[in-house]
Amino acid sequence: MLGPALLAAARSDGIRRLVSAAPVTRSVVDRFVAGERLPEAVAVSAGLIGSGLTVTLDHLGEDVTDRAQALRTRDAYLELTEALTRAGFGAAAAGTDGAAELSVKLSAFGQALPGGHDLAHRNVRPVVEAAAAAGIGVTLDMEDHSTTDSTLAVHRALREEFPATGAVVQSCLLRTEEDCHALAAAGARVRLVKGAYREPAAVAHQERRAVDLSYVRCLRVLLAGGGYPMLGTHDPRLIAIARTVAERLGRKPDGYEFQMLYGIREHEQRRLAAEGHRVRVYVPYGTDWYAYFMRRLAERPANLAFFLRSLASR
Ligand code: FDA
Repeated sequence: MLGPALLAAARSDGIRRLVSAAPVTRSVVDRFVAGERLPEAVAVSAGLIGSGLTVTLDHLGEDVTDRAQALRTRDAYLELTEALTRAGFGAAAAGTDGAAELSVKLSAFGQALPGGHDLAHRNVRPVVEAAAAAGIGVTLDMEDHSTTDSTLAVHRALREEFPATGAVVQSCLLRTEEDCHALAAAGARVRLVKGAYREPAAVAHQERRAVDLSYVRCLRVLLAGGGYPMLGTHDPRLIAIARTVAERLGRKPDGYEFQMLYGIREHEQRRLAAEGHRVRVYVPYGTDWYAYFMRRLAERPANLAFFLRSLASR
């Protein structure tokens, strides 16, 4: 019951101001966010890479409301690409082997503004180009269902020039199994997640079990296909199923990867890596952490209880 309310709150400016100003919020946020500044994100990434993991960095921000803000997103990612290159995290050649990659949300590049589809494509392209030159991959995060067609179309267009560009699909959406067939046939890098947005019954499964079953169907399609599956989940049952299916299909551990969020199931991240799996940690950083943080609270009521206790103990 709390999840939908928190997801609605994630888009409320009033609650954003309240939560962002609460004196203890930062310490709770720190569990999920690597820091507010670029050097902190690079330092956290260096630590993760040093321990045998790989990373995908997200400069936090979404739903920008003007073009200048969209350009600032582009510049922040260009700066991030330079910092990662200086830190030695690019790969020799563009592809899937880099220790670091970028995750971008097209709404932060202007997708929701008038003419937003083309604007977001125009703004994100220089980032993908610079990253490709540095051997750093880029994955387009997926936002709510109203953006799916546009985001997949930008992904297709980018892949014509930069084939390693990744997409994300959400098993909660009714359309996703079909999207997986198309992406797997096209040989794309695809991150499969359950989906973090509140979606209507007309387009999305409403029961957790249905979302999980859809995840299993989708992972079978992706693992059987010609692309590079990136399984974004902390769910131990789904991870076990993915390993079994991959093995049955003859996928080697370097033919797919698991992805998890910074601060969540860190022991499992290290355990899978120690067993020879590729594990990529999604590392968000920046000052605009509110919506991301609220989605993490919505996923797990215990996180909300922890947050409320920390407020009460002041
Ligand atoms: P589930 O929510 O069932 O959690 C399984 C277990 O994981 C829980 O029992 C708990 O132990 C742990 N766990 C999960 N979430 C937790 C939390 N917040 N705090 C503490 N423990 C938690 N979504 C989207 O719509 N678009 C996107 O682009 C992305 N990108 C993305 C990248 C990566 C690398 C990951 C891992 C996830 C995403 N997501 C996403 C989020 C995704 O859709 C989903 O909301 C979360 O991963 C939670 O779902 P799980 O699959 O982990 O299962």
